[in-house]
Amino acid sequence: MRGTIFNFGNLQKLFWLTLSFGIAVTYNACSRLEPNENIKVFASGGCRGQLETNFKSTYYPIFQQHCNSCHSSFTDQGPGDFADEELDIGITAMYVDEYGYPDKLSLINKNAVDPGHPAPTSGPELEEDIYYANESWSQALIAYDTCIGSPPPVKPKTKGFVMSHTLDPVGTLAYTPVSLSMTLAGDLEVGNDLPGVTFTFEYTFEGEELTLDQCTVEKISPDGKCYSPETAYKIRNLKVTTGSAAIDVSNINLFFNGAFSGTQSTFRAIDIEVPANSTDFQISSGTQPAILQPPEGFNPGVDALSFEFSVLQEAVPEPADL
Ligand code: HEC
Repeated sequence: MRGTIFNFGNLQKLFWLTLSFGIAVTYNACSRLEPNENIKVFASGGCRGQLETNFKSTYYPIFQQHCNSCHSSFTDQGPGDFADEELDIGITAMYVDEYGYPDKLSLINKNAVDPGHPAPTSGPELEEDIYYANESWSQALIAYDTCIGSPPPVKPKTKGFVMSHTLDPVGTLAYTPVSLSMTLAGDLEVGNDLPGVTFTFEYTFEGEELTLDQCTVEKISPDGKCYSPETAYKIRNLKVTTGSAAIDVSNINLFFNGAFSGTQSTFRAIDIEVPANSTDFQISSGTQPAILQPPEGFNPGVDALSFEFSVLQEAVPEPADL
């Protein structure tokens, strides 16, 4: 998916790319405003101006041509005002009503290329425009939020999975495989369930238990035991099984007992499209595990691991000719 973007064959594609890079590198020049944690409001000034410029050349023209008759303030044929001809109303729907954010944006992308969504206004002929609009707008949105100093959008996150593996000597490859089934409501604490998608990972609890007299008070773990300094949970072999849709996965952060672990794991660099109908598609190798050494110590059977994703969603269909 992302690898193929360099394969563009015409100027229009170059334009989109230039636009998104241009925004990514210039947003630092914006003035910073106080973030408001509760109500989403539009900041005026340079930050907004850049987002508007992006909207004008990405989604706005598509919406005007194909969606305006239903998704506008003057009609209630379709929900949302994102396709209003007033740029101001449209972009407010995108930003404030969050049509432009991952969950609802993927619905926009999906409906736009769905021939079944009020034909003939939407369909496969929009695939290429939607693909580039999505790439560019998603970048612009991050740039805007950074520009105004707003907290980043809420990311999909799993519930905590309790790790109860018994202690193995360092280097033992006695993994405990764990399945996270995204099909079942409840496995994702934040974000939408993905039908047919299953994540699995493996972990070990490696190290050595020391006698209590070898420990200072502050080194004693919550389970009342003392562990050697190299003791750690090691997480590896992240695999994904998909259903009938491809999914995008990027930047996985590990949370330990509800708090960001700070672990700089290889999972953070993941940026991948997992094809539809994959079985155990490996998205992280077994040779570079994420190593968790919580400063507060260990409590196997209670310690819980959760995964947070920057992106975890059905992939935007890529046009066949890219
Ligand atoms: C002829 C009217 C019509 C046109 C044109 C139309 N839609 Fe829709 N749209 C609807 C209706 C009706 C619904 C609600 C029922 C449904 O979800 O299918 C809807 C729902 C949606 C939703 C879900 C909104 C929500 O809040 O639940 C999105 C997103 C959407 N359409 C995007 C688009 C896009 C993008 C276009 C243009 C490419 C488009 N639609 C063109 C009528 C239309």
